[in-house]
Amino acid sequence: MRKVIFAAMAALLALSCSKKAVQDEYGYIIKDNQIVYNTPARPADQQSMLNFACDPIENVRVGFVGLGMRGPGAVQRFCYLEDATIVALCDLYPERVEDAQKILDRHGKPRAAEYSGEEGYKELCQRDDIDLVYLAVPWQLHTPIAVYAMEHGKHVAIEVPAATSIEECWALVNTSERTRKHCMMLENCCYDFFELTCLNMIQEGLFGEVVHVEGAYCHNLDPYWDEYQGDWRMLYNREHHGDVYPTHGIGPICEDLNIHRGDKMDVLVSMDTDAFNGQAIADKRYGKGVVEKYANGDNTMTFIRTRKGKTILVEHNVVTPRPYNRMYQVTGTKGFANKYPNEGLALGAENVKFTAVDDLDAEEYMSDAARDAIMAAYEHPISKGIAEKARAVGGHGGMDFIMDYRLVYCLHNGLPLDQDVYDAAEWSSLVELTEVSINHGSMPVVMPDFTRGEWNKLDGLKFALAE
Ligand SMILES: NC(=O)c1ccc[n+]([C@@H]2O[C@H](COP(=O)([O-])OP(=O)(O)OC[C@H]3O[C@@H](n4cnc5c(N)ncnc54)[C@H](O)[C@@H]3O)[C@@H](O)[C@H]2O)c1
Repeated sequence: MRKVIFAAMAALLALSCSKKAVQDEYGYIIKDNQIVYNTPARPADQQSMLNFACDPIENVRVGFVGLGMRGPGAVQRFCYLEDATIVALCDLYPERVEDAQKILDRHGKPRAAEYSGEEGYKELCQRDDIDLVYLAVPWQLHTPIAVYAMEHGKHVAIEVPAATSIEECWALVNTSERTRKHCMMLENCCYDFFELTCLNMIQEGLFGEVVHVEGAYCHNLDPYWDEYQGDWRMLYNREHHGDVYPTHGIGPICEDLNIHRGDKMDVLVSMDTDAFNGQAIADKRYGKGVVEKYANGDNTMTFIRTRKGKTILVEHNVVTPRPYNRMYQVTGTKGFANKYPNEGLALGAENVKFTAVDDLDAEEYMSDAARDAIMAAYEHPISKGIAEKARAVGGHGGMDFIMDYRLVYCLHNGLPLDQDVYDAAEWSSLVELTEVSINHGSMPVVMPDFTRGEWNKLDGLKFALAE
């Protein structure tokens, strides 16, 4: 009997030690009124993925997992990419796979191998004729499936956010570094025309030093809540505080600030409102009292300061009836851009008018004609030549196609991808970090460094182009 008790105690101790080891490795301590996240040392069998490029892939063979609202659009877009072939399709439901096969039929493409069920993705990943696994599944499945795919020798492209916790962010980084496989998050908003052109203008110096940026995801999801398979999105929102969908807002503005290519997001503070509409929506959907306390605040605001003294503001709101807004705002020492509700540019302090002090219009947006002319002149090199086709193929007005085109282009030419695994981890890390800040009364959070000290090694963001 004594032996049994000792064995049980030893097992319990081992379990709690291993839990504690995980907590210490990926978790945080509270020090001087700040939440300080740990950055674990890089294991010996891993190498940095900064600037990583694989050998050129003549034809990129793709397997799609997740064919709900988002996945089929990607299948359709890939039908227009000459250097890619759709090899396999997978969803929980076989009928969704069949619907996606019909997209191939309509484009005169051969039908793909089919997988379904909860673990169908495993068989897809085990195939030896797939280069890239493209994921559009519920958030909770992104990292587990991506890790499995990389472990099975596949590059992965993951819908947003790539991960829902810091532990998952590190799982993506560690697996990518160890397997030497690309892990790109599909942050399509980085490829929208206004954002791309502004990025080009920033890199050409038209904004001077960029000092402050803002991004947001404000999108009333009222019409869609019932459409998510198994209610995954509402289930996640009702259980979590924080900016649970940060990457459309944070992605493009991190590119503007050269995050982990010369600067680093350092400290974050997040604050949310109560769940006024969130609770009402839950009461209506599930019946009053079923969801005792809906967690996700109607409006969540996050402030971040960077190592180089810049500031970032990100906002999340999916439950109030406000018009769609990703904000995308850039404040530089010599210029200003704002995307929503109207695309506006104000470039150049020399245009400041001398006005009466109570005239608030000293600084004005340039005229629409002047804005259009300068934006045409500074069109980003990666959208040049592909913009027309992108608009025709579509996907949020073309940006989704530019993203897919670039992904295949870089793999085909053996170039570094536009977004690396550290982007995926940094942008997705806000999911947990904002929640932890809010849960501690908006305490500042010192963010982990997914590059492990290499955030200043690259000199700015570059989009690789073949000779
Ligand atoms: N980048 C964008 O603009 C954008 C837009 C919409 C959605 N998204 C992202 O795309 C992802 C999917 O969103 P959605 O709106 O299509 O949701 P959805 O619920 O409509 O689709 C998810 C699909 O995954 C399938 N699935 C669930 N478990 C699976 C499993 N084990 N194996 C294979 N398939 C499985 C479901 O059956 C469903 O068809 C999410 O991450 C979301 O954030 C991105």
